[in-house]
Amino acid sequence: MRVAGVVGWPVSHSLSPRLHEFWLKQYGISGAFVPLAIRREDFSRALGGLVTAGFAGVNVTVPHKEAAFAIAHTLDARARAAGAVNLLVFENGAYVGRNTDADGLAASLKEALGDTLSGKAAVMLGAGGAARAGIIALDALGMRTVRVLARSPAKAESMAASLRPFVTATISVFAWEKWREAADGVGLLLNTTSAGMKGQNMLDLPLDPLPKTAAVCDIVYNPLETDLLKRARERGQPTVDGLGMLLHQAVPAFEAFFGVRPEVTTELRAELVKALNA
Ligand code: ATR
Repeated sequence: MRVAGVVGWPVSHSLSPRLHEFWLKQYGISGAFVPLAIRREDFSRALGGLVTAGFAGVNVTVPHKEAAFAIAHTLDARARAAGAVNLLVFENGAYVGRNTDADGLAASLKEALGDTLSGKAAVMLGAGGAARAGIIALDALGMRTVRVLARSPAKAESMAASLRPFVTATISVFAWEKWREAADGVGLLLNTTSAGMKGQNMLDLPLDPLPKTAAVCDIVYNPLETDLLKRARERGQPTVDGLGMLLHQAVPAFEAFFGVRPEVTTELRAELVKALNA
């Protein structure tokens, strides 16, 4: 029996066990996927214990993604660009560090919008860890320009500088007050901030400067329809919620742990929506 898990602090809210357990059952695989609440200071020691216990690997979430990057013996191209690891596969005692967040987001956008984003400009909100995956995803989709709109432009500038060697897209930075300018002519608005998440502030962003044809994507999935997505939908804009990214980032992880490449289906999505609403 193969065992894997998700390492985070806190981790009780994580939907990953529900997701992987659904696939284990669907594919008739004898295995388990467990939530592992590990404090920041215990991360490396805990990993050693999991290897000893015979785990196949772990998904890594907040606050351990940078520590996982630092501890990995090898890194894939996505992890190197993101500066973060969300998947550690244990291979003969070595930690293989991967990052599947960017490809997960790209797959979710592609599933919802097809190839319509290629060659277009995007405006992206935020300059944190999730923003790095955002830029890599939009570049992978062939977007020409990513305009980063941030409350802290200096932080966004340093993020942009560290990502430029890894992408073809042009990355430019706009202060939050320059929203009107940044929104001009874009084909996509992507929120990578935590604003709009349950218990957090809403985004302070009027949508009228945004072209009516632009798609709006939020990486927040709780609530599934954020205030941003609701306002976009009411304006008739195509919307993409954050659940798609969560589902698609898990596909290569499940394959690495359990040896089967799983499918993202409407049944799986419904199962997770049920869990979110519970
Ligand atoms: P994560 O790793 O999940 O991306 P993070 O590294 O804390 O989280 O980054 C969150 C990003 O969202 C930051 O760019 C943050 O802006 P500041 O650095 O200025 O705080 C941004 N952010 C959070 N709440 C926001 C809000 N209400 N409006 C605009 N930006 C917000």
